[in-house]
Amino acid sequence: MSQPLENNLIFRPLRDDADRERFAAFNAVCNNPSEGATCACLLRHHPVTTTLDDYWIIEDTTSGEIVSCTCLLPWTCSFAGIDLRVAQLEMVLTHPAYRGRGLVRRQMEHFAQTVTSRGYDLAIIWGIPYYYRQFGYAYALDGEVREALPVWKIPPGDSDRVRLRPAQTADIPFLAGQYQAMVGALNFYNQRSPAYWRYMLEAAQHPIHIVEDAAGALGYVTVSRRPETIVLYENGLPDAGHGLALLQHLRGQASQQVIIYWPQPAPLVSLARSLGSQAIPGGQWLVRFPDVAQFLRKIGPLFAARLRPAWKEYSGALIVNLYRQAYRLRFEQGQLAGVDSLGFVDSSMGADGGDLLIPPEAFVRLALGYRRLDDLFDAWPDIQVKPAARPLVDALFPPLQSYMTTPYYFFDNG
Ligand SMILES: CC(C)(COP(=O)(O)OP(=O)(O)OC[C@H]1O[C@@H](n2cnc3c(N)ncnc32)[C@H](O)[C@@H]1OP(=O)(O)O)[C@@H](O)C(=O)NCCC(=O)NCCS
Repeated sequence: MSQPLENNLIFRPLRDDADRERFAAFNAVCNNPSEGATCACLLRHHPVTTTLDDYWIIEDTTSGEIVSCTCLLPWTCSFAGIDLRVAQLEMVLTHPAYRGRGLVRRQMEHFAQTVTSRGYDLAIIWGIPYYYRQFGYAYALDGEVREALPVWKIPPGDSDRVRLRPAQTADIPFLAGQYQAMVGALNFYNQRSPAYWRYMLEAAQHPIHIVEDAAGALGYVTVSRRPETIVLYENGLPDAGHGLALLQHLRGQASQQVIIYWPQPAPLVSLARSLGSQAIPGGQWLVRFPDVAQFLRKIGPLFAARLRPAWKEYSGALIVNLYRQAYRLRFEQGQLAGVDSLGFVDSSMGADGGDLLIPPEAFVRLALGYRRLDDLFDAWPDIQVKPAARPLVDALFPPLQSYMTTPYYFFDNG
């Protein structure tokens, strides 16, 4: 694919090693060196199934320079036990002299087409506040939340009860086990293969450390030391007792505070909270369903499990109307039998628009369990639900605990 655009620009994927270097250099110069290092690391070492076709550039043929770029990073995420194929848009950048001309808009269209043609279940972006709303993305999953714990709130204790050592590739089975235990409390998380652990340790140089005592390994933390602060970017420690020993070990090494990244159910995070930490919101992932009907079909087994307690005999239909596009969910004996796309269904005065009428952004939050219907009415007073359908809607879409990180970045100790 190579597509001419107006003003002597062309849009194309990367082709060769020279393009790899230019892509990384463009990001280093027009964004910052750290982003450039991440691009170089991804393009040389990314273990997941990315190819050069997943990195896109717009070039100015008059100068031969890259003026805008994006890329697609694929993930497999677990959603309440269902594997979802997720496409993340990354490395979004336009040269300052070319901004505001729709170059990222063009690439967003291509990203949307790619995500649809490859059958991804979700498209996600972590990025510039507000910008991606215009492309149909909704804020719907927590990320980058952390606890700030002043060191004086850590009770003094034996600072040598545990120690830290840099993790090696031989530790990967242990790391994978601890990670799985940590994300086990979540209904949405990113799966991580052994190859991905190797990428993080060897290529992206994440400062992952094993927490151990005299008897052996207890867990792990990704730790970065700054002048006044110690940052724990990730933690996989099975219990608060070992967490306290770790904090006491770190107590003398930071003059001000220890920052501990979520997920919220992690024992170390609960411990920090109990010691008086303060949560710093990090933002939310932007999410879009490329194909709503496909997503609903995919999570059909979840609907069956959710209906089992009180609705296991249920047969009937629920019309969910996203105002521009409506869907009929058909249930037979408590199982999802099908999802029909109904197109536009009028919901104006005098029309029966369906059982649940809900704007698409609000539906993303509801369907992912990020918020309950009651929590959504405030920002979306245009949600309507027929009273008779309300118990079924509540049963199908319960609130869920979720958290997402995609640690693809090169760790330059920042
Ligand atoms: C944000 C950025 C990528 C936009 O690139 P761009 O090629 O100028 O974007 P486009 O022209 O395709 O933008 C599409 C629309 O969004 C608007 N827009 C641009 N930046 C915006 C912003 N920060 N917030 C809201 N709207 C914005 C544009 O004006 C345009 O509107 P229009 O179609 O109504 O005229 C560019 O400013 C950039 O490279 N910034 C620095 C790097 C960065 O922040 N990257 C994102 C990391 S997630």
